[in-house]
Amino acid sequence: MGKSTAAPAAAAGQVGGMTRGWQWAGQVGCIEGGGFTGSLEEAVSARLLPSRWAHSLGVASTARGLAPRMGIDPGKAWVAGVVHDIARDLPAAELLSLAGRFGILVDTVEREAPELLHGPVGAELARRELGVHDPEILDAVARHTVGGAGLRPLSLLLYLADFIEPNRDFPGVGEVRQVAGRDPELAALWTMEKMLTYLFREGLPAHPATLEGRNFLLSKLLKEGRWRPWGGGAPDARCCHDRTRKDGHESGAQP
Ligand SMILES: [Fe+2]
Ligand SMILES: [Fe+2]
Repeated sequence: MGKSTAAPAAAAGQVGGMTRGWQWAGQVGCIEGGGFTGSLEEAVSARLLPSRWAHSLGVASTARGLAPRMGIDPGKAWVAGVVHDIARDLPAAELLSLAGRFGILVDTVEREAPELLHGPVGAELARRELGVHDPEILDAVARHTVGGAGLRPLSLLLYLADFIEPNRDFPGVGEVRQVAGRDPELAALWTMEKMLTYLFREGLPAHPATLEGRNFLLSKLLKEGRWRPWGGGAPDARCCHDRTRKDGHESGAQP
């Protein structure tokens, strides 16, 4: 099975002599419901388009690589990256339906742009169907679409890794990758600003959590003398594939 060969040994657990479930740092995830008998990677890849799965592996690798710099368990970062877009290929109507079934409150921006719900809906699917119960991983998956103020370290890491994984090729991504290795919070600030600039330019609604996250990080980095502007390139859809127009307006190809 070629798709899961990129998984580290720490992410595909051996439980009861059969590959079933996942683990990191010696903790084995519990699989509930009996609908999932392979590795976590097999279960997620079966739900995604090949290009989305390639993106997810890129996010997982990027997050795992940056994790030690942020004091985060690399295996945990890998799992967050693998599962983060598990609901991304569901139709808007299904995302709204699942949000209702799961008791997820849908705000006005999410009602306008239901694709944003693939974060919180995906977190709930990961919990219910894949046995992912770690609150930090679930929070990171739920928030990766819009970010927010005062994000937990893993949530900030996943938001950033989603933006700079190797399949992204928009102008200036190299500068963000370089800064991410030295100052992940500055790179995350730039990521939120890039997303907001793209949304404003394209006439798409911006979620208040993204603006709050940008203001939070800006204030923090200014106080700490770590802020500097990003000079790199005009934003386009290659940086912001979770938010692209669906009304025929040309906004570039999705990765
Ligand atoms: Fe996503
Ligand atoms: Fe993603």
